Amino acid sequence: MAEETTTGVGVLASGGGSNFEALARACKDGRIPGAKIRVLVTHKRGVGALDRAVRLGIDSLVIEPSDFPDRTTYYERVAMEMEQRGVEVVCLAGFLLKVEPQFIHRFAGRILNIHPALLPKFGGKGMFGHHVHEAVLTAGEKESGCTVHLVDEEYDHGATLAQARVPVFPEDTPDTLAARVLIEEHRTYPEALRTFIRGMNKETP
Ligand code: GRF
Repeated sequence: MAEETTTGVGVLASGGGSNFEALARACKDGRIPGAKIRVLVTHKRGVGALDRAVRLGIDSLVIEPSDFPDRTTYYERVAMEMEQRGVEVVCLAGFLLKVEPQFIHRFAGRILNIHPALLPKFGGKGMFGHHVHEAVLTAGEKESGCTVHLVDEEYDHGATLAQARVPVFPEDTPDTLAARVLIEEHRTYPEALRTFIRGMNKETP
């Protein structure tokens, strides 16, 4: 019988952490075979993602940029904490800090992000949270959705791994649209991670 490889996953989040929880639940219930979330890292205290980590029994760390002289040393620490816990794949889940190049190189081709729109539209600097949904509504789009992509040195730019679409209704507000997109995020991110890890480990289907 083939031995199952365990792939360590680290999650970086800034806020509520619902995508972190979706990934964690999918890892726990076997929808992402062999994947295990080793640690959640946030850059501030008191965020919802940390409460979710406690409830889910997942190790979590708060690493604050203000405790470091610069972002280079900050990300060195984040990378070290992740590597010490066996993290091979990093998932950004509502992580609002810009990820520095040396962190990207350290986990080259193994950092995923989810964006709440259909990239390449509505991505780039300043396009996060409600700004994205406001822009979609202002542009009069008939559909929106989410994109899981690899992270490179440009905002919202790396190769797309998965997308899901939702309709935009005339009566939508940024909040109603965000809620519809978020449901798809929770389904799409675990599926994309599963496919990514399967490819990484060259599993047979
Ligand atoms: C999600 O909409 C995600 O696409 C974006 O930030 C939001 C995070 O939500 N990058 P949560 O913290 O996962 O609930």
